[in-house]
Amino acid sequence: MLNKGPFNAAITAVGHYFPERIISNKYFEEYLDTSDEWIKTRTGIIERRRLDKDKPTSFMAVKAIEMLLKNRGIGIEEIDLIIVGTVTPDMIYPSTACVIQKEMGAKNAWGFDILAACSGFLFSLMTAVQFVQCGSHKKVIVVGADKMSAISNMEDRNTCILFGDAAGAVLLEPTEDKSYGVVDAILKIDGEGGKNLHQLGGGSLNPASHETVEKRMHYVYQDGKSVFKDAVKGMADVSYDIMVNNNLSSEQISFLVPHQANLRIITACAERMGISMDKVMVNINKYGNTTSGTIPTCISEYWHEGKLKKGDYIVLSSFGAGYTWGSILVRWAY
Ligand code: UT7
Repeated sequence: MLNKGPFNAAITAVGHYFPERIISNKYFEEYLDTSDEWIKTRTGIIERRRLDKDKPTSFMAVKAIEMLLKNRGIGIEEIDLIIVGTVTPDMIYPSTACVIQKEMGAKNAWGFDILAACSGFLFSLMTAVQFVQCGSHKKVIVVGADKMSAISNMEDRNTCILFGDAAGAVLLEPTEDKSYGVVDAILKIDGEGGKNLHQLGGGSLNPASHETVEKRMHYVYQDGKSVFKDAVKGMADVSYDIMVNNNLSSEQISFLVPHQANLRIITACAERMGISMDKVMVNINKYGNTTSGTIPTCISEYWHEGKLKKGDYIVLSSFGAGYTWGSILVRWAY
């Protein structure tokens, strides 16, 4: 899938942000017919973070980018392009990329948002790769950020226990050494899955009205069982295929970085690839499903813990609303 240009696109810095407020499973026990035990065993989630009501998604994205810039030792004015994967933009428009550009004074950057739900980070990363590989852009920031608490119905036990708020960001730069960076990608969509996972209110089909609010159409709707079945197959297939297509064995993969929607889906994916769980990045226990945030926050946390080494092969995999899904193979460059 990757049409190589003169350069490879390498990840050269990472950053993440989680709000301070912790919401434990017990919190939900107090007002919903649910239990810590059910949530833990069915999803793997123990707690998640929640951003203050008056703060938007861009607040978390800016914090993640600040960490990334500090790590790389560069200023925001060096950035050429900002791409934001999110389903919870600050508003319908302007884009969250524009808000971030203004907040951070990124005066040499242009940018835009990409809507691919839980695959938002992977679709944004793959888009960014095109600009870096051809040599037209030297420093591109890719953000995965979502304030899921803004679109979760806190009375619906089927969904509200699942989600959390977070942002992660990576910096992409060109490298002439073609053995590092983004190596390959498989990305897919299937609109048939739209019926199982969506937010119907607020768009041009169902503009915001008293009726859409009364019918709770501005919240996440999910047919969990159907999505679970499709996610296990979809994510496991692409993760396996990208490994095999690149002649890699499971021993040669240092980490699988799966979207964090359910620990049981993650385990199934690892099993299909023949990868043991100690080589799977997991943060769902601490943060729940942070949609576009899951993959970049995992990478950033593991990098900050010193677990990623130059030369490591990592497989990033996601599955989400759309349906959107895919895998990206990266050889770690620093
Ligand atoms: O990130 C984007 C992609 N999303 C996913 O990949 C998520 C995929 N789906 C899932 O992870 C799982 O389907 C869920 C975690 C959402 C649900 O787990 P499940 O094992 O599939 O449960 P279920 O929906 O089949 O429900 C089983 C039972 C139901 O009760 P009945 O009908 O058997 O009496 C639910 O009403 O569990 C009930 N239930 C709950 N019980 C306690 C649903 N939510 C809860 C809850 N607490 N929070």
